[in-house]
Amino acid sequence: MTKRDLASELDDYFNSLLLTEDEALLEAKRTSTAAGLPNIAVSAGQGKFLQLFALAMGAKRILEIGTLGGYSTIWLARSLPEGGKLVSLEHDPNFAKIAESNIDSAGLADKVDVVVGDALESLFDLRGEEPFDFIFIDADNKNVPGYLGWAIRLGRPGTVIIVDNVVRNGRVLDENDEGRAVIGTRKAVQYVHDHPRLDGVALQTTGVKGHDGYLIARLLP
Ligand code: SAH
Ligand code: DHB
Ligand code: MG
Repeated sequence: MTKRDLASELDDYFNSLLLTEDEALLEAKRTSTAAGLPNIAVSAGQGKFLQLFALAMGAKRILEIGTLGGYSTIWLARSLPEGGKLVSLEHDPNFAKIAESNIDSAGLADKVDVVVGDALESLFDLRGEEPFDFIFIDADNKNVPGYLGWAIRLGRPGTVIIVDNVVRNGRVLDENDEGRAVIGTRKAVQYVHDHPRLDGVALQTTGVKGHDGYLIARLLP
């Protein structure tokens, strides 16, 4: 058995005992696949991790950068209390439409706003809103340093920021990799190191999506 198969089987084992992908989550995946969206949503286990984390910190306002078909959005929005809000940013209007329909089917339309447009522009427009408690960055990794700058402006002391895809099967280690995603990820890790208001850690993950990882940072006063 390859390492990848083993990781995938382990995901199946743990998930069978610890989580349920209900009809709304499964439908979000089905409609996304049927519409030709790339198969890059978080795994079920990663989605539940995000949900537990947001619940544990009592997040009332969540910001997501990168909606795709709304799969991670549904996991996260289900952590919100009555009156809570999740804003998710997506530049592809077709993806956003599919996501909105999936979010609606999940009964979460009143809690979620999908904002269509380039994330850096949408973030600019979010200035002046109440701060976000939890921020999930899962879009184009080349722009993660910029997204981290916005996360600091749009958060408050104690806000938790999670960045997806910081390992990519180890590509992040290669200083000579000229991929903009890898360069952006390396800059993002350096950014957390350098910034006096960010304290973070990178957690490697494995499972059905292979070897990847989350960069997790807390915004200090
Ligand atoms: N969070 C989703 C997966 C997101 S995939 C999930 O786990 O279910 C990344 C998404 O980011 C894609 O839908 C892509 O269209 C979007 N994206 C990429 N660059 C973007 C940008 N500059 N502004 C807004 N969205 C962007
Ligand atoms: C891939 C996975 C992701 O979670 C993502 O946001 C982008 C790409 C991938 O597996 O290629
Ligand atoms: Mg991702």
